[in-house]
Amino acid sequence: MVAPGKGVLAADESNATMSKRLEAVGVESTDQSRLHFRELLCSTPGVEEHISGVILYDETIRQTASDGRPFPEFLQERGLIAGIKVDTGAKALAFAEGEKVTEGLDGLRERLEEYHELGARFAKWRAVIEIGDDLPSPYCIDVNAHALARYSALCQEAGIAPIVEPEVLMDGKHTIDRAEEITEATLRAVFSALSDQRVALDGMVLKPNMVLSGTDCSDQADIDEVAARTLALLTKVVPEEVPGIAFLSGGQSDEQASAHLSAMNATGGVPWELSFSYGRALQATPLKVWSGEEASEAKAQEAFAHRARCNGEARHGRYTAEIEQALAA
Ligand code: 13P
Repeated sequence: MVAPGKGVLAADESNATMSKRLEAVGVESTDQSRLHFRELLCSTPGVEEHISGVILYDETIRQTASDGRPFPEFLQERGLIAGIKVDTGAKALAFAEGEKVTEGLDGLRERLEEYHELGARFAKWRAVIEIGDDLPSPYCIDVNAHALARYSALCQEAGIAPIVEPEVLMDGKHTIDRAEEITEATLRAVFSALSDQRVALDGMVLKPNMVLSGTDCSDQADIDEVAARTLALLTKVVPEEVPGIAFLSGGQSDEQASAHLSAMNATGGVPWELSFSYGRALQATPLKVWSGEEASEAKAQEAFAHRARCNGEARHGRYTAEIEQALAA
């Protein structure tokens, strides 16, 4: 999953989220249009050079690709590992106004067994932590960390590698100092719960946010500062046994997500692979280019291949604005 030069495509949007994304580019959201776009991305020529695996949504893992094969088999044929999102979303947390806890533990053992049969070899669970004036509460961090660890243990029991995603959202006016403080508290709680629940750290991938200034903060940290702060924090809290860290993009632009990852890899000196598991930063441009037009499919695939290549370069610390342009030419 985190082989050098490669990363993961997160294509596991729920039907509600995917519908919003498709409708924003004028495409009606149906099970077939969702399948079509995802198959379009995954059949991009050469994409396996930079993409190791694809996180699927429950609907997609049960669908059939246009060549008649089950979707996970179609991926495998192309050299891509199938993964599955297994949480059922972030819901309001009792007695914690404005905070959320991710659900999906009920029946998870049985669901994992079925997903394994369907071809999934890794899974994803996303916890959502929001920064606000008095948020997050330690209670919210703790219950989310506990659920992430329960999910991870069940995955490992089923022979499925867990992607552990505690996302501290970048939305808000907060400073980068505050993002760092909350990300540290969150990651400490997560690793403490993983250890309590006997999760093998060498059999998981961490999917964290980068340490960024809040989207609406007047003082925006630059690329080098984001990279330095993120690396310093991870070095403090992530055990060496973890084989890989695959960042989420979280609403960063395509270019920012590549630039930050590249700056961290250029610095290096860390015990884990520093990779990507981007959703929006890999899909937004190809989706817009496609916009449901058959005539634009080849161009959409080129746009996707381009982003995958840029992030492949970032994995080696070689992504620059010049490379962004050269590869686009
Ligand atoms: P983004 O890269 O768009 O944040 O999506 C990653 C993801 O998997 C969110 O759960």
